[in-house]
Amino acid sequence: MQEEQKDIKISRMLEDVRRYEEDMSGRIPPAERPAFHLSSRVGWMNDPNGFSFYKGKYHLFYQYHPFNTVWGPMHWGHAVSEDLLHWEYLPAALAPDEDYDRDGCFSGSAIELPDGRQMLVYTGVTNEEQEDGTVKGVQKQCLAFGDGLNYVKYEGNPVLTEEDFPEGGSRFEFRDPKVWQAEDGSYRMVTCCATPSRDGRIVAFSSMDGIHWSKGRILVQNNERFGKVWECPEFFRLDGKWVLLTSPMDMLPEGFEYHNGNGTLCLIGDYNDADGIFTPQHDQSIDYGIDFYATQTVLAPDGRRIMIAWMQNWDTTPGYRISPTSWFGQMTVPRELSVKNGRLYQLPLRELENLRRGCVNFRNVYVNGEMELEGVKGRCVDMELEIRPADSGAVYNKFAVKFAAGGRYYTTLSFHPRDRIMKIDRKFSGSRRAIIHQRRARVSSEGGVLKMRLILDRFSAEIFLNDGEQVITANLYTDPSAEEISFLSEGAVSMNLVKYDLVR
Ligand code: FRU
Repeated sequence: MQEEQKDIKISRMLEDVRRYEEDMSGRIPPAERPAFHLSSRVGWMNDPNGFSFYKGKYHLFYQYHPFNTVWGPMHWGHAVSEDLLHWEYLPAALAPDEDYDRDGCFSGSAIELPDGRQMLVYTGVTNEEQEDGTVKGVQKQCLAFGDGLNYVKYEGNPVLTEEDFPEGGSRFEFRDPKVWQAEDGSYRMVTCCATPSRDGRIVAFSSMDGIHWSKGRILVQNNERFGKVWECPEFFRLDGKWVLLTSPMDMLPEGFEYHNGNGTLCLIGDYNDADGIFTPQHDQSIDYGIDFYATQTVLAPDGRRIMIAWMQNWDTTPGYRISPTSWFGQMTVPRELSVKNGRLYQLPLRELENLRRGCVNFRNVYVNGEMELEGVKGRCVDMELEIRPADSGAVYNKFAVKFAAGGRYYTTLSFHPRDRIMKIDRKFSGSRRAIIHQRRARVSSEGGVLKMRLILDRFSAEIFLNDGEQVITANLYTDPSAEEISFLSEGAVSMNLVKYDLVR
């Protein structure tokens, strides 16, 4: 537990939330949660917020509706961790308890101030009835200061309103502030600030003290290219390039990119701080699976840029019938980012290796048809595979891994080397809903050679291809007792395999 800051008074509303979550979360058996992915303490979780390192611990807040397992008035849930894998829940940090945020404390970020306080920057929402009778949320940026446990909202809130963004923005699409400190010690912020016709725009602000902010200027505008409103922006320098991560709503697919409707976009390019212009040179999906949205990153004390995201997607959330007092929503495994040859690479956080137990190692396994391997099963697993044609010259037709299998359940990852397509199919994973169950990605592979790493937790699969060049993420709804893993090929494959159980 953090040391408490004495002069912080908590609202009645937040006190009630804290009492409720403490009581209800104790009733959720740990075995019914993911083992090492953060899930909502109780009720609903969406975007990661305030991902930061403060007083020796990582802090992760999240969009939170504790009273039900569907989206509702947004609070900020809170958890801390020393290694980003063992999480301790802290009491909810923010409730929609002020006039200027009474309809929700939407997404935002966190930073440590020179006086040692942690500052949360979030979007306060107030609903406004329109002439046509519809209701829209007016969005403004707000601050709260705290000690890592309790936060007091700034008396000068809101600090950024429609007066502050450049012309052509909509006050209903002005949200998700990401704050960071520039090299000269001043503060920067990017927010979503789409146009009234919902064309995505990211607007940048600057400040000397983190509290008083300049007028915004446009960092980059979509011009209808990648979906509509760009949510949850992140902007940082990595490996000599500037990277913009954002989650565009309503994307159209392009080839094998952007298949998720509410998708994710990574733009890599150059940025000139003096004129404030970002020039993207490359675009890609951040993840090629089903359940991935709203990324947020932290710069670790050792210099690693670590990303986490909501392991869900707005299009696949409706319809789950989950008790309102259970949990819904989890985060991805934290991922280390790098940029190579103008492309974003992701690897599972290296601390995950500390959870590895019981190494099983096979080299040059001949696969032709379906087979299982001694000791290769489990639902919390880290498994690396390298495949290539067994008979030189003769490229196989198909290779597949079946996992989380047992009884009526299985999920398949299959690779067709001739057209270089990797497919995930979780149709038989236990879902009772007609939502998206398959995704295809075109991967890099010459002559049927491919590397993949599967990270399985009780309710998810994250597949890292070719040392992180692409990632495929999907939730599983399979009973955790379905833990068989098998390999299948049409044509002869030679496979190297290293498999560990992941034990928290
Ligand atoms: C993205 C998002 C954000 C918003 C939050 C509300 O998933 O729509 O833009 O701040 O969720 O919960």
